[in-house]
Amino acid sequence: MLIKTERLLLREFVAEDWRAVYAYQNDPRYLEFYEWEHRREQDVKSFVQRFIEQQQEAPRLKYQLAIVLPNSNKVIGNIGIRKREVKAYHAELGYELDPREWHNGYATEAATAMLKFAFEELHLHRVMARVNANNHNSIRLLEKLGMRQEGRLREEEFFKGRYWDTLVYAILEEEWRWRIANSG
Ligand SMILES: CC(C)(COP(=O)(O)OP(=O)(O)OC[C@H]1O[C@@H](n2cnc3c(N)ncnc32)[C@H](O)[C@@H]1OP(=O)(O)O)[C@@H](O)C(=O)NCCC(=O)NCCS
Repeated sequence: MLIKTERLLLREFVAEDWRAVYAYQNDPRYLEFYEWEHRREQDVKSFVQRFIEQQQEAPRLKYQLAIVLPNSNKVIGNIGIRKREVKAYHAELGYELDPREWHNGYATEAATAMLKFAFEELHLHRVMARVNANNHNSIRLLEKLGMRQEGRLREEEFFKGRYWDTLVYAILEEEWRWRIANSG
């Protein structure tokens, strides 16, 4: 599977991509809202391998794609849509970017394309995302996509010595279509 956007390529992961992922997953800015303190080579290889295995699912439930800058062929993150079961009419959106590439609008561009794929190709009715309530960059992104906060799971996670709230965001197909029809 391949999606082209104005500035990005969203493509299937290959094993060798672990090096690019490893290069950013130990950045403290990246690690802030994950339970991990540190990422070892083997952790990152398994992380990438999971996405490669998802490509073999038949029928496929999960599409976690590498975000690539086409000119340099550099992997700068990943974005995906994950269904829990074949018949599901809803799915979860998840993403991450190399911190050196933050604040360029790349996550917005990739997520916009992934929502289009979810509603137009997978014919989903609802896409949701879970986000740490302190992760303001990610919350801003979800709101830019037109996703609405539906709930707050108080102190749902515990890591790095404290509890963290999780926010649940979602968008329905009709809301997404309305935005497309009324944008620009
Ligand atoms: C969440 C995450 C992907 C957001 O990345 P991001 O780069 O801030 O997101 P965007 O692509 O939406 O970029 C928005 C910024 O780009 C700027 N920008 C620059 N050029 C732009 C363009 N052409 N188009 C749109 N925005 C542009 C915007 O003004 C905005 O700036 P601001 O952050 O200073 O307000 C990133 O913080 C991340 O990877 N975090 C770690 C992993 C993580 O938390 N994942 C999510 C788990 S729920």
